[in-house]
Amino acid sequence: MLSGLFDTHAHYDARQFDPDRDEVLSALPGQGVELVVNPGCDLASSRRAVELAGRYSFVYAAVGVHPEECGGWRDADVAELRALAAQPKVVAVGEIGLDYYWPENPPKELQKRVFRAQMALAAELDLPVIVHDREAHGDSMDIVREFPGVRGVFHCFSGSAEMARELVKLGWMISFTGVLTYKNARKAVEAAQAVPLERIMIETDSPYMAPVPHRGKRNHSGYVELVCRRLAELKGIGADECSRVTQANGRDFFLIQG
Ligand code: NI
Repeated sequence: MLSGLFDTHAHYDARQFDPDRDEVLSALPGQGVELVVNPGCDLASSRRAVELAGRYSFVYAAVGVHPEECGGWRDADVAELRALAAQPKVVAVGEIGLDYYWPENPPKELQKRVFRAQMALAAELDLPVIVHDREAHGDSMDIVREFPGVRGVFHCFSGSAEMARELVKLGWMISFTGVLTYKNARKAVEAAQAVPLERIMIETDSPYMAPVPHRGKRNHSGYVELVCRRLAELKGIGADECSRVTQANGRDFFLIQG
């Protein structure tokens, strides 16, 4: 078993954990998981993320409105996010971004407006951002460039190796999930090989994206070990070193003290 694992993206506020949330979370330290960041997807979920961070010493929160959940956005929501961001252990604005995959998602123009509003909030608060980008690489990069003062991570990275290099050049981080373990993961594998380990974080995106051999089942942070092992293999280093470096990367990025 590895130790010191940092799962930089897991949704323990999600309803999939309603039956056994506390059991799952309490078991994580025994599975080598030292830190977890739980991003919010809307205002209610951000509140729950903050609440979980209050109850578990190893859980930190991010607050934000996900592009798929931004249909009911009111500009006044920024004030509520600002107040939530002032709570203890809130380390980022997220997850925010663009998702053009599902035709029933909120209109692109609204998604972009909500993304920009939250990028502006991150700039104001000097917090990093966690970006969700699905089938929206061009527009996501355009908005990233509009806010040169904001640093962030593209979580569950699905872009090209070239885009990953571009983000690194801009000072951003890249984060990988269990997708790295999938047979059809050529793009993610190429991106992971294209950027230096110092710019990479690992995550589960629980309850989604469970790595092989658990693909299709409910995910949890204990499985971040499988992501770590696969990344280590791709980088030609030991899994212990990969765990150590990705934890340090995550701590530096989210400004979590050692
Ligand atoms: Ni997520």
